[in-house]
Amino acid sequence: MNDIGRRGFLVRTGLALGSAVLADACPPAFADQLLPQSGSRKSQFGNWDAIKAQFPLSPQLIHLAAFFLASHPIPVREAIERHRAGLDADPIGYWYEHEKKQEAKVLQAAADYLGVSPTDIALTDSTTMGLGLLYGGLQLRQGQEILTTTHDHYSTEISLRLRAERMGATVRRIPLYRSLKAVSRDQLVDSLQKSISSATRIVAVTWVHSSTGLKLPIHEMAEAIQSINRSRSEQDRIIFCVDGVHALGVEDFHLSQLGCDFLIAGTHKWMFGPRGTGLVWGHPKAWPIAQATIPTFNIQAYDLWIENRSARDLPPSIHMTPGGFHSFEHRWALDEAFKLHQAIGKANVTQRIYELNQQLKHGLAAMPHVTLHTPISQDLSAGIVCFEVAGMTPRQIVEKLRQRKIVGSVTPYATQYARLAPSLLNSPVEIEKTLGEIRNLRSS
Ligand SMILES: Cc1ncc(COP(=O)(O)O)c(C=O)c1O
Repeated sequence: MNDIGRRGFLVRTGLALGSAVLADACPPAFADQLLPQSGSRKSQFGNWDAIKAQFPLSPQLIHLAAFFLASHPIPVREAIERHRAGLDADPIGYWYEHEKKQEAKVLQAAADYLGVSPTDIALTDSTTMGLGLLYGGLQLRQGQEILTTTHDHYSTEISLRLRAERMGATVRRIPLYRSLKAVSRDQLVDSLQKSISSATRIVAVTWVHSSTGLKLPIHEMAEAIQSINRSRSEQDRIIFCVDGVHALGVEDFHLSQLGCDFLIAGTHKWMFGPRGTGLVWGHPKAWPIAQATIPTFNIQAYDLWIENRSARDLPPSIHMTPGGFHSFEHRWALDEAFKLHQAIGKANVTQRIYELNQQLKHGLAAMPHVTLHTPISQDLSAGIVCFEVAGMTPRQIVEKLRQRKIVGSVTPYATQYARLAPSLLNSPVEIEKTLGEIRNLRSS
């Protein structure tokens, strides 16, 4: 087994690795190692450096906040430039020629990647737009409530608050755990299950918390919800909604097997899609609960309006794809991002991100002046690592690292941590260098 294979095996089997072991496994030449092949298909990329070379990122910096907003890789950039030139030369002509074809291509690429039907996907401009439109448009009956958690991002919390203020829905927020140190998958599922009441119609959670790096066991939570749903009528069935933005492009999953009803995500973070793109996927049985707010500009829907005919029979995902005109050069380049991930191989992506995160977390956990908040286990974490350094504020940590050309971020929440997110744009050598700088951090 080569190094990538051996380390991936250790990560998958959950065996704890000491930092020394990891350091030994990371010679400088590691970044040149071949990518494992994805299934029977040989990856078009020979090594991880070839993937990083797709991005015009500053080579002076170690990019550990790349999930914040994507840098466009070559195929995405080229597609954007192609569409931009066409639109600039003849906006209406190019639009009529490409709109239907390009949108279908984007939906098909997203559907292939997610393992679902393209007719169940609505296109948005961001996670926030998807959350706002979905949570604002879910139809609830009198007495039905929305259950959410105290760990969600601003965009979920405010979407639900606006919804409650506008339409009077009850939103109940619960903590899923007391201490991150002792958290377990069973406890997370149990907390959710126990909090569900007969009034609960919607459950709204975030798959990977950008506040701590904690990853929820979404599949197990979905199973627990399904077991409650067995004794409920269709009208009272719990609808399980997941902000999946920090899982999409990190976790190796098929939506058809995940078990949630809606997945909302931007595609301009880990997916490397064009900035200003995102999607909402809904299970065909769940979509009817969602009512659109912004008129779609789908050509079929528009033609039916012109002919004074009902568009009710069109898939709900079409109505949930908001019009009017968009920055089409970005939207129509999104298929390239999905294709890039497929070319690398979903399993390879996950394995690489896990390995780099393991390296970082084990290194941080071994430092006496550092408190690591993100669980070490990849069962409970994905690609985000949150920590504190004794005697320093998170802002000071991030600023000091920036002075040393390492780019991190501060969690934008009431409780703040320093946050680093090893991704496909990093190498083990960069993680070692980052650990070295954190080792030297002192409060002076
Ligand atoms: C968990 C989570 N959800 C939603 C968002 C907002 O994403 P977007 O920029 O795609 O709206 C963020 C961060 O920006 C986030 O961390």
